[in-house]
Amino acid sequence: TAADRDSLPPRPPVVTIMGHVDHGKTTLLDTLRSSSVAKGEAGGITQHIGAFSVPVPNPGGEKRTITFLDTPGHAAFSAMRARGASVTDIVVLVVAADDGIMPQTKEVLELVKKDSNKVGLVVAINKVDKPGVDVSKIETALLAEGVQLETFGGDVPVVHVSGLTGQGLPTLVETISLVAEMQDLRAEQKGPIHGYVLESRVDKGLGPTATVLILRGQLTPGMGLISGLAHGKVRLLKSPAGESLKAVGPGTAALVSGWKELPKAGDEVLTGTDGEIKKALANRARKADLEATIQDAEA
Ligand code: GTP
Ligand code: NA
Ligand code: MG
Repeated sequence: TAADRDSLPPRPPVVTIMGHVDHGKTTLLDTLRSSSVAKGEAGGITQHIGAFSVPVPNPGGEKRTITFLDTPGHAAFSAMRARGASVTDIVVLVVAADDGIMPQTKEVLELVKKDSNKVGLVVAINKVDKPGVDVSKIETALLAEGVQLETFGGDVPVVHVSGLTGQGLPTLVETISLVAEMQDLRAEQKGPIHGYVLESRVDKGLGPTATVLILRGQLTPGMGLISGLAHGKVRLLKSPAGESLKAVGPGTAALVSGWKELPKAGDEVLTGTDGEIKKALANRARKADLEATIQDAEA
């Protein structure tokens, strides 16, 4: 019930940075956390979903955590963008002031529209440091796409920023915090977890690993895991920056090792006892077999 929900502790918002290729998403996040991911990327193109949490001062003064997900803007990665949008509380749509509305800008607007009752939208018009850019032209074009910007009396906040110079970034963070505060995000911090695989890969040393976004509960080493047809037991938990963690709570993401199989990006992650996981796996495997048989029969 609503009263039960109100008694839960607050959790950090999950904020996904989205937009057309090269509109400056990674650079903007780099500046926010004083790092340089963008420079190390092959061809300057993001090819995965990056996740990290940063403490930021909220409008009340005290620090709060925001979890950011960086997504690729390249046309080839629409599945990753859909995944990013589906687990997020807030989408920051980055539009480069010198390039305007492009195909993946529109794709992001479509994704947000699908989840508009759940997902908050903030528009960041980026690269305003470039000479000759016309921000009002971009805003008018966004309005023509149906984005009800605050500039025109709507409810979608728009911030003018430069990821390169850092101009406007404090305002962007403040705006995100305000939207998150209105969402009043809360989650159970104890007990079984509920989360999603953002991405997965086999690590040379750690074996199958997954970056897992936790939305409920507390993930700790030794816990049994199930995701799709993959299972395991948490061995190592690492922050996206590489430090070992003792526990991962709601609204944050971590690299999880200890999988027997490689889980699939986008799949739900649950914890359980050995018995529960064994039973669930058997059920899922049976169901997958049955579906394969039906497909064969139909073919
Ligand atoms: P994908 O992940 O591949 O979609 O790209 P992205 O949106 O993450 O863009 P990225 O951060 O890789 O930046 C693309 C190019 O734009 C780089 O050359 C950046 O240096 C440049 N750039 C990013 N932000 C700004 C900005 O605010 N001002 C200027 N002048 N250039 C910027
Ligand atoms: Na890029
Ligand atoms: Mg990028």
